[in-house]
Amino acid sequence: MTKNRLYKMFTVTAAAGLVAAAGCDSTPILKASAGGAGGGHAGTTATAGTNGGGGAGGAGGATLNAVQLRGQYIVDVVAACGDCHTPRDMNGPIAGMYLAGNPSFITAGPGQSLGSRNLTNDPTGLKNRSDLEIKNMFQNGLRPTATAGVNEALNPVMPYYVFHNMTDADADAVVAYLRTVPGVTNDIQRRGTMFDVSAPAPAIADSTIPQPDPAYADQASALAGRYLAAKAGVCIECHTKHLDSRATPPPATVLDETKLFAGGEDFSQLFATTLMIHPVSKNLTSDATTGIGTWTVAEIVKALKMGVAKDGTGICPPMPVGPMGAFAKLKDEDATAIAHYLKSLPPVPNMIVDMCQFPPAGGAGGAGGSSGAAGTSGTAGTSGTAGTTGTAGTSGTAGRSGTAGSTGTAGSTGAAGAGGAAGAGGAGGRSGVGGAGGA
Ligand code: HEC
Ligand code: HEC
Repeated sequence: MTKNRLYKMFTVTAAAGLVAAAGCDSTPILKASAGGAGGGHAGTTATAGTNGGGGAGGAGGATLNAVQLRGQYIVDVVAACGDCHTPRDMNGPIAGMYLAGNPSFITAGPGQSLGSRNLTNDPTGLKNRSDLEIKNMFQNGLRPTATAGVNEALNPVMPYYVFHNMTDADADAVVAYLRTVPGVTNDIQRRGTMFDVSAPAPAIADSTIPQPDPAYADQASALAGRYLAAKAGVCIECHTKHLDSRATPPPATVLDETKLFAGGEDFSQLFATTLMIHPVSKNLTSDATTGIGTWTVAEIVKALKMGVAKDGTGICPPMPVGPMGAFAKLKDEDATAIAHYLKSLPPVPNMIVDMCQFPPAGGAGGAGGSSGAAGTSGTAGTSGTAGTTGTAGTSGTAGRSGTAGSTGTAGSTGAAGAGGAAGAGGAGGRSGVGGAGGA
């Protein structure tokens, strides 16, 4: 058995709600952003539910003790387990299915799905697993099989190679909390064989996770942030480029550990049929030009809790931010610690072209085409899908800074919408979306 390409797929529901059913082949970064979604201002409604976030609401009823509460905080907020383990529909997390697993978390053809699993207290979930077995799954990627004493490896789309570094106390708290989650019967099929792996992905070595620059003033907070960002939480996973597991020889690690936190993971495929946005994770290191070195701690905290970037633009899913996002509930001191950690990271130059705007519809983008029948395509309404007519092409995706030239991949490949008289391309800036949708 060979390792298959690791798909980084989140069923985070953006405004449009996603049915995560991505294709099999990885799509190279699309060079041109989909043009503006017509001139319409889907605006307000599209912002609703910036992204799905970890399942709100946990086990109703019972009062949780301190350990269970800690576990709940990790599951719902820091690690955002629900972003993958709670199934969603167009309206967000499906009621009554909290942590019950999504059978088609990734689908790649008939019989080839990778479901996220049922973590609730039901026989189809974790009810009959021992505490040790549960920890062995989410921290070591080893799942018991029908044969006693024999385990099989989990696909590293499940970030056990990150959670391996969680403290024992926190791992126990996660289990203690999961035990309080009401059982939901939902038998998730075993993954398709193309998602089989011969061995669990190796955990990230603690020594590999960058330490705060010793010169950084607030060491204690930065160190606390290191734990939250790279061991109990998954910033490190999304914000590091994944290596191609189909390469020969296969890479030894899931992530490009030479460029931890430097961004570059492309999530476009997840949104190919819905929002048609092209989110690529950003460089979070302190590099002043290509990272977030010029951001203040307060600006980073705001990004985490409110989903708004330094320049005031919205942050695209699958980053779990915004009012409904998992990170909205980060404790202030924890969000601050994470911010300190990022600011303390040694700079790693890595230019990430910003190709995403959120909310995706409307926008006062560049000199959009004149024929944009705003109304039609702009009625994205609650679903935020911005209508098919909106994908006018030729939109400039100049960097966020608006310095078109340098990084702007002002493209010409935007999929012109039906009849859309592709606009004249946006002139820089994140919102620089041309866009003349319309009939
Ligand atoms: C990026 C998406 C993602 C995140 C985040 C995630 N998981 Fe998973 N998890 C998966 C997928 C996909 C599988 C199935 C892997 C397979 O079958 O090979 C899985 C499998 C598991 C399993 C194995 C269960 C079984 O019966 O097979 C456990 C336990 C688990 N996850 C717990 C967690 C916990 C606890 C968290 C948060 C601390 C978490 N997961 C976060 C995607 C995710
Ligand atoms: C599920 C994947 C995912 C996770 C988990 C995630 N991010 Fe992100 N993040 C992204 C993507 C994708 C973007 C780019 C969005 C865009 O282009 O608008 C982003 C953008 C950001 C930005 C804005 C940077 C900029 O230059 O605009 C910051 C800051 C950030 N993330 C910090 C974090 C931190 C801190 C964590 C952990 C607490 C985290 N992210 C977890 C995917 C993720």
